[in-house]
Amino acid sequence: MNAPHPAGSTAFDPRILRRALGNFATGVTIVTARDGEDMVGVTANSFSSVSLDPPLVLWSIDKRSGSLPVFRRATHFAVNVLAMDQIELSNRYARPHEDRYAGVSWRTGEGGCILLDGTSANFQCEKVEILEGGDHWILIGRVRAFEDRGTAPLLYHQGSYAMALPHPRRQPPQGVAAGGAAANDLQARLADHPYFLMTQAVRSYQESYQPRQIQTGWRPGEARLLMILNDGPARDMAALARQADMPQHQVEQTLDLLRSRDLVERTPDGETLTEAGATQVRGIWAMARSHEERVFARFDRTQVETFKQVLRGIIAAPA
Ligand SMILES: Cc1cc2nc3c(=O)[nH]c(=O)nc-3n(C[C@H](O)[C@H](O)[C@H](O)COP(=O)(O)O)c2cc1C
Repeated sequence: MNAPHPAGSTAFDPRILRRALGNFATGVTIVTARDGEDMVGVTANSFSSVSLDPPLVLWSIDKRSGSLPVFRRATHFAVNVLAMDQIELSNRYARPHEDRYAGVSWRTGEGGCILLDGTSANFQCEKVEILEGGDHWILIGRVRAFEDRGTAPLLYHQGSYAMALPHPRRQPPQGVAAGGAAANDLQARLADHPYFLMTQAVRSYQESYQPRQIQTGWRPGEARLLMILNDGPARDMAALARQADMPQHQVEQTLDLLRSRDLVERTPDGETLTEAGATQVRGIWAMARSHEERVFARFDRTQVETFKQVLRGIIAAPA
């Protein structure tokens, strides 16, 4: 599954190409438009800034989109950049819905465009050009107004929702690793700061775990679906998507891939793990366990239990 794909070939399997493109992490937006009474909104991660002077942005829409006629007619569109806590909204605007705006709070922006509440930012654009781009249309807009709340954004990576953390430096500052004296005040504070220590610890854990995980050939979202189905078959795709922190269409595409590898099959009970799928899950759990054992081997049981209790306490009741 991780094999290189030949350059120059145009006969890529679209599922495999989409999977590779998923390595490019993006934010998540809902692009909205209005033409009279017709209001549309589409979850999109194809958004990109193009130019600062003049201020231009673009995004692309599937030619088969039911919302396309309104985007064509409307003079403006708004790009709503979703915040970390807006997964439900993202899913709502990514699947067919009778009325995507029912129960959603919104306001009117420049040129009558629709601004969703609670987003990290929005860009209110006058539509200036529609270009052909294969099976998509590329819409270019000139930013006429924008709002910048700066809240933590929702991210999308390898088919799963994700969140942004400041990049922990590769090398812990002096004093952190060795528990020795810190070189200056900043280093002393960092070496004693729980948030910094937690992000560094996650980096360190992940750095040694990821190569092993990648060797299995499974993306985290794929592994997660296999592990969820290991608890029993699933019929309700929306519930499965919520459990896996993935958009529903991504869950369906991933199941498609897993079925093509005979790891999942459709039975009267719903999507069901095959024996080969169950073997994969046992392998994934065994790997996770052996990594945990390796990392914690140098601490005694009481220390590890206390550590886990503190983490559970912080997760259950943030200050
Ligand atoms: C994270 C994510 C990103 C998406 N990005 C795009 C995109 O850039 N362009 C697009 O046309 N559809 C994109 N989609 C799919 C649309 O949101 C989905 O097909 C939606 O139902 C289209 O709206 P429509 O029913 O009005 O056609 C994306 C979906 C998700 C979950």
